[in-house]
Amino acid sequence: MPKIVIAIDGYSSCGKSTTAKQVAARMGYAYIDTGAMYRSVSLYFSQHHVALTNPKAVEDALHDIHITFNFNPKTGRNETCLNGLNVEEEIRKMYISNIVSEVSAIPQVRYALVAQQQRMGRKRGVVMDGRDIGTKVFPDAELKIFMTADPVIRAQRRQIELLQRGEMVGLDSILENLKKRDFIDSNRTEGPLRKAEDAIELDTSYITLDEQTEWVIQLADEKISKL
Ligand code: DC
Repeated sequence: MPKIVIAIDGYSSCGKSTTAKQVAARMGYAYIDTGAMYRSVSLYFSQHHVALTNPKAVEDALHDIHITFNFNPKTGRNETCLNGLNVEEEIRKMYISNIVSEVSAIPQVRYALVAQQQRMGRKRGVVMDGRDIGTKVFPDAELKIFMTADPVIRAQRRQIELLQRGEMVGLDSILENLKKRDFIDSNRTEGPLRKAEDAIELDTSYITLDEQTEWVIQLADEKISKL
């Protein structure tokens, strides 16, 4: 059976990554969380006090950053590793969410990560979620989904997710962070968040994650059957 690229883009906390993970598992595809890559770079920059406005410092730091996704047989999940260290928990924390949009707006950062993402998906058979997958990373993806949802519902989902990780954050500051990130992500010059012309839009405000997954798999099956 031919393998395709499934690009899932959209706003933060619309359920992109959970859906992408489930779709990848069901289809036997690799799942690549590109947000985790931008978060890992942000963590490294934060740990090493890299000045975001200094292109040389950014370039040097990028040479020292190696991001991999390692399968953990104990949890059955892929974990994000930064220079060999598992950073899966750390990169989800609020202090990273507060800087990641600024870091991911730096063109050098995007060039480096987009190139790595293209290498990761070159054999196809991948589900990749992010902001610019259908427009920049894989403009030739066979299936492109663009997810949206009501901002308050997204903030509530994010709050539950953070609570499950032991971080208690007020709804207002989460909502503010989401709106700020949406704004920066949508207005940067390099690889802004926008719906590809041939992407199919899905509003996830009032549907379950399982429904989202089924919907994507059905679309993928239709695409594959026509190849
Ligand atoms: O999907 P996420 O919320 O974990 O992504 C974190 C941030 O990374 C998001 O605010 C924007 C940035 N990002 C990006 O610029 N391009 C991508 N392909 C994925 C994420």
